[in-house]
Amino acid sequence: MRTSILALLLPACGWFSNPPAAPPAEPPKPAPVMRESHGTEQDLADTLAFFATRPQEETALVPGLGPVEGVGGRSAEVCGSCHQAIYEEWQVSTHRHAWNDPQFQKEITKSGNTWLCRNCHTPTLLQQPVWPVGLVDGDVEAPILVDNPGYDPELMDQGITCVACHVRDGQIHGPGLPDSTAPHPVQTDPQYRSAALCERCHQAEQTYPGKGFVCTFTTGKEWRASPQHEDGETCVTCHMPAVERPVAVGGPVREVRRHWFKGSGIPKFAGQAPPDDAPPGPGLALEPVVGEGILTLKVRNEGAGHMLPSGDVERWVQLDVRFVDGAGDAVGEPWQHRFGQVWEWWPEPRRKSDNRLAPKEERALEVVIPQGAQVAVVEASNHRMSAETASYHELGDYPRSVRTHRLEVPLSGP
Ligand code: HEC
Ligand code: HEC
Ligand code: HEC
Ligand code: HEC
Ligand code: HEC
Repeated sequence: MRTSILALLLPACGWFSNPPAAPPAEPPKPAPVMRESHGTEQDLADTLAFFATRPQEETALVPGLGPVEGVGGRSAEVCGSCHQAIYEEWQVSTHRHAWNDPQFQKEITKSGNTWLCRNCHTPTLLQQPVWPVGLVDGDVEAPILVDNPGYDPELMDQGITCVACHVRDGQIHGPGLPDSTAPHPVQTDPQYRSAALCERCHQAEQTYPGKGFVCTFTTGKEWRASPQHEDGETCVTCHMPAVERPVAVGGPVREVRRHWFKGSGIPKFAGQAPPDDAPPGPGLALEPVVGEGILTLKVRNEGAGHMLPSGDVERWVQLDVRFVDGAGDAVGEPWQHRFGQVWEWWPEPRRKSDNRLAPKEERALEVVIPQGAQVAVVEASNHRMSAETASYHELGDYPRSVRTHRLEVPLSGP
């Protein structure tokens, strides 16, 4: 049975599963209301006027509606007809699945606040079936909505699609290729060589008092405090690795950047992910040291230019150790350790603990070796959500984790 909507709290813009100990009595549920159209031009003006009253992360990334100059359409397929390699990489990225992500699809049925989510997950106005023009009594779960006559459902399904990142005011914007052979006009913009575009969605700290949900992604802030930031590494240099190839079919070979946007490496759909060896690899460096009766695991956030893990507050990195004897049979108890955050969602959202690894931070964890153990099997894995959360959302076999390390450590001589 479902508990009341208020009892289910929203971390990092996503619904949390565990109901609090004492759910409150259910108040009337705030709901969206539709407004009649005042004509597309006026509706759009009203939407933009509304957005102007909201914080940046609650507004659409691409407010324009006009056609893309010099290109037949807006769909990623159109761009992909020339930018084939980029298209194929983007297809297996989580950006492409920011709308059809099964977890996201379950979460947006739970509140009238979907207009908030859309501004990062389907960030162009054309991807949105309805636009917000106001809020009933200032309640973010009770938006006043108008129909969007130009709504493009195919484009919505593409989530964070090419035009979301590359079209501004109807023109294609990019990092600026010298002697470009582009058939479409191009505007050079330095933000494509910085973290600015990424931080627009990956750095947000909004709280909604009385709502029991927060919108917290502090990857941008964590990166700004990292040694990698000092060294000039950005989201783009790590998550869009350099490659030499033509930018468009038949064009000159250039040093450009891949579009996999690989992070934790946990796919949204089984089998749809960048290759295992695609950069950046796992953030964790793991070194076992065998001592007198003690296995020391030296762990270090070697690769991530932000906390490990970063992003959604429900993510964690897990270490597992099990011991076996000479015959391969289990000896002693398995050992487990998690790096992550723990949040309490009731009565107000509050972070209870945080043992994530800061960039380049190193720790040593000690595990007692049980009698008779010959080999320690040490594994590390990235997790996006617990089994309870997945089962609450009825997510079936939705991929929740990926193994990043597996070592067999001999404990005694032959
Ligand atoms: C400010 C931009 C922003 C808004 C607004 C936003 N999200 Fe997200 N969302 C992100 C980013 C960035 C990530 C990727 C971080 C990660 O995967 O850890 C993400 C990831 C997710 C994920 C996947 C988490 C995972 O672990 O794979 C879900 C589900 C999700 N958001 C749901 C929502 C819902 C529901 C809303 C509206 C209530 C919402 N988001 C609003 C930026 C946003
Ligand atoms: C999340 C934002 C984002 C998305 C989505 C995205 N791009 Fe890019 N793209 C970038 C950034 C940032 C750069 C600049 C990389 C650099 O510094 O050279 C770039 C560079 C490019 C370039 C210049 C050459 C190169 O490879 O560096 C082309 C062409 C391009 N993108 C096309 C596309 C197409 C086509 C799609 C959709 C299939 C797409 N992009 C999706 C952010 C994005
Ligand atoms: C008819 C082929 C064609 C189509 C369709 C096309 N492009 Fe291009 N685009 C090119 C070529 C050719 C270049 C320049 C390549 C070169 O000079 O190496 C280019 C360059 C670019 C650049 C780099 C701009 C710069 O100098 O920084 C971006 C970004 C880009 N395209 C995005 C897109 C997007 C997004 C779409 C879809 C809305 C798209 N393109 C559709 C052929 C195309
Ligand atoms: C319009 C908002 C938006 C922009 C701009 C954006 N992202 Fe994202 N990003 C997201 C969302 C939302 C997700 C998660 C989608 C999901 O899981 O459903 C995500 C996922 C990711 C992930 C994968 C996380 C994982 O483990 O699955 C990486 C890595 C990433 N983004 C890097 C970048 C970089 C680098 C840039 C800048 C070039 C960028 N993003 C720009 C919204 C954005
Ligand atoms: C020095 C390289 C580096 C830089 C700089 C960097 N990242 Fe990452 N990022 C990584 C690595 C490595 C991982 C994989 C961590 C792991 O093992 O889960 C990662 C993971 C992620 C994830 C998935 C969450 C997680 O912890 O697995 C997101 C989202 C992300 N990065 C976004 C960004 C954004 C946005 C920026 C810029 C503000 C950025 N990253 C800067 C290397 C980097």
